[in-house]
Amino acid sequence: MRQLIAGNWKMNGSYGALAAYAGDLKAGLARLGAVDLLVCPPDPLVRPLIEALGGAGGSVAGDDVKVAVGAQDCGEKRAGAHTGDVSADLLAELGARFVILGHSERRLDHHETNAMVRAKAEAAAGAGLIPIICVGESRAERAQDEAVTVVRAQLAGSLPDGFAGVVAYEPIWAIGTGTVPSLEQIMQIHEAIRAALVKQLGDAGATMHILYGGSVKPDNAQAILALPEVGGALVGGASLKAEDFLAIAAAATGG
Ligand code: PGA
Repeated sequence: MRQLIAGNWKMNGSYGALAAYAGDLKAGLARLGAVDLLVCPPDPLVRPLIEALGGAGGSVAGDDVKVAVGAQDCGEKRAGAHTGDVSADLLAELGARFVILGHSERRLDHHETNAMVRAKAEAAAGAGLIPIICVGESRAERAQDEAVTVVRAQLAGSLPDGFAGVVAYEPIWAIGTGTVPSLEQIMQIHEAIRAALVKQLGDAGATMHILYGGSVKPDNAQAILALPEVGGALVGGASLKAEDFLAIAAAATGG
């Protein structure tokens, strides 16, 4: 399976720094093997980033590498009186191809429930965006041996019927901490997610990308990406520097 390396800029990045980032990223693409890249900047940068990358329709297609641009969230409704929300339809019109949904920072900081994530995934799919739904346990839940139970419940509650998209496993205790689960722990949860996806979605669940996210860096990416059932990475901090992001993408194709 072709790996997807997705960058989540969170509330970082600036309009002024976009050209340099896009230039560095494009310069590094020729060195990569077959891999899909995705960059999810804050919403106001979606269109400028696409333009800086020089791509039409949100993706730059090279011989072996495709680069898409996506968003980090979208509204639950398609349009209307929802001050401050940004619709999936507008993001799609701007050229976004993917949208990250249910990131733990949204679930915790903005009290997003599984039902809300599910509604957003439906809005995203309706607008033609590919949702990346995040799941993952807290440190306390891990300590109580509840990681699999928590992740299964999040999948059951957050994925719409007939979901077609990507799932990202992001243990909350690994996000931005520099602490990464053991390879065995990642493997165990990814296998549990695969089984749940097949149960929930049938054949479609068997081939769906399952990304790992949480402190993925150039020096640990290769071991993580080589694990069975890991179809790519969701990268926060290390996606902010094009050089590190490219190094992780290189690791996806064996270095
Ligand atoms: P991190 O963030 O790579 O900085 O740990 C990952 C994420 O939250 O998507």
